[in-house]
Amino acid sequence: MRWMVVACLFGAAAWAHETTKEALPEGPIRERHELMERVGKQAKIIGDALKAGKVEPVAPAAAKIADEAAKALPLFPEGSTHPRSRAKPEIWQQWPEFEKLMGRLQADAKATVEAAQSGGDVRTAANRMFGNCKSCHDRFRVPEKK
Ligand code: HEC
Repeated sequence: MRWMVVACLFGAAAWAHETTKEALPEGPIRERHELMERVGKQAKIIGDALKAGKVEPVAPAAAKIADEAAKALPLFPEGSTHPRSRAKPEIWQQWPEFEKLMGRLQADAKATVEAAQSGGDVRTAANRMFGNCKSCHDRFRVPEKK
């Protein structure tokens, strides 16, 4: 139990990204953190491309997000909280809603791939996809500690 107390004490200071990874227990909690970090990287690629008025990087990045979303739910086994995880217990109290948002991320990421490949409205499709990140984080992720 001692290490948990220590983790709590230092958790706030070392909350962000890379430092968190080492401190997370092996298994689904660490894996989903890494999955989300990869999703974040792809999202940045899409955001940067749109800002620069480029379309080519969008489809491969959105396809990766769709793949990751398809793999995400099993990494949230019931009750898998941890002092350093930002997953809220509400995930399991409102599982159907959580599941729905992850499904939407996958569907909207696929729609973004299609829009990018067919000369469609990539910006609108990407923004719809990003809306799911925010909806889910607002509801199911502990806010970042300052
Ligand atoms: C259905 C819910 C859901 C969706 C949709 C979702 N996320 Fe997450 N995300 C989470 C949860 C929950 C965590 C915290 C996991 C943990 O710490 O155990 C997280 C963590 C993250 C992290 C790690 C941040 C940190 O400090 O640990 C990043 C980056 C991230 N998400 C990016 C994204 C992006 C970008 C999208 C959209 C393209 C997205 N997420 C969509 C639920 C979601």
